Amino acid sequence: MNNGRYMAIPPGAIVPGALPDFRIFVVTLQGKYVLWAREGNIVSSEQLARLSDNGTKEVFVDIGEQFKYEQYLETNLGNILGNQSTQDDQKADIFSKVSTNVVKGAFETSYGLGTMGAAAIQRTQQLIENALIFIKEAKSLQALAKMIGHDYQTYEHATKVLWFTVAFLQLNPDILEQIEPGDQAFDETKRIDRLRQCGVGALLHDIGKTFVSHEILTKNEPLTEVEWEIMKRHPLNGLAMLIDTDIPTFVKKAVLHHHEDFQGGGYPMSLEGPNITTLARVLRIIDVFDAMTSRRPYKDPMPPMKAAQIMIGTPEDKEKDEDPEQDDRDLGMRRCFDKDLLQKFIVFLGNAKLNV
Ligand SMILES: [Fe+2]
Repeated sequence: MNNGRYMAIPPGAIVPGALPDFRIFVVTLQGKYVLWAREGNIVSSEQLARLSDNGTKEVFVDIGEQFKYEQYLETNLGNILGNQSTQDDQKADIFSKVSTNVVKGAFETSYGLGTMGAAAIQRTQQLIENALIFIKEAKSLQALAKMIGHDYQTYEHATKVLWFTVAFLQLNPDILEQIEPGDQAFDETKRIDRLRQCGVGALLHDIGKTFVSHEILTKNEPLTEVEWEIMKRHPLNGLAMLIDTDIPTFVKKAVLHHHEDFQGGGYPMSLEGPNITTLARVLRIIDVFDAMTSRRPYKDPMPPMKAAQIMIGTPEDKEKDEDPEQDDRDLGMRRCFDKDLLQKFIVFLGNAKLNV
């Protein structure tokens, strides 16, 4: 019997040649947990191949060693995601787990401090560095499709926004370049560095929510006016937390602008059009898209294409848009987004076959 003592992990989490400092168990046909690898023992590729040949989909770790296992995943993430023989959905699960832990760590270590520590920033950058090659692969998006419809939780949301942002910008190099136009050639090294920095922005876009109480963040009914005012401060608080870090200015501005609406009226500054930085305009779209396609306690997740339709608006909205007597509230969400970017994002969703 398990009795809650063991947690299942995918065999793809074990890196051949690396040294796990936790024990790994397999379960017999009779449901008995037997030791498969002792802590400190190197697991060989042959051992892992035998597991795979036996059709083993999961191995187990003692729940008391979960922390060691999670540290191992984070340390070895680059190797795990780069292992050609591991299935993409296992890689996606592992990446999500590590990323969620990193964001959770960033939030928890910053809570109440008003600034983000250098160690948390380095951990975030390292995560993205290790994950970049995998996130960039078009096929990894198929694995992401399985995460759509999951519960909306701040840490998991940040991971999905990271994934969508990097994958979308990877496939749209013109937008990536436009994020911070420079006079020098936009070569491969700059491209990778830009993608990594955009990933940092995506992962940390809501870091200012560490100033918002748990009660407000998880409230299942409409916020009061005061609560809403507190909530609306999170982009400014996010900027304040990052201001003294070596994160590039375009990323700090994206954190500050990610709730600005393209046609004005967003917060905190009610900027309009090109005054809102490009990365912020991308994040605005992806942030809303993920929120709409996630499960909330009070609503079912929306299918991606339905969410896209609502975001882009209807022909009726367009007519109203051209009528000077129109009521802004009738325009729905379309006024929030840069139409050209939204169009490209929808093409991206179609190419990624996320129309589930
Ligand atoms: Fe936000």
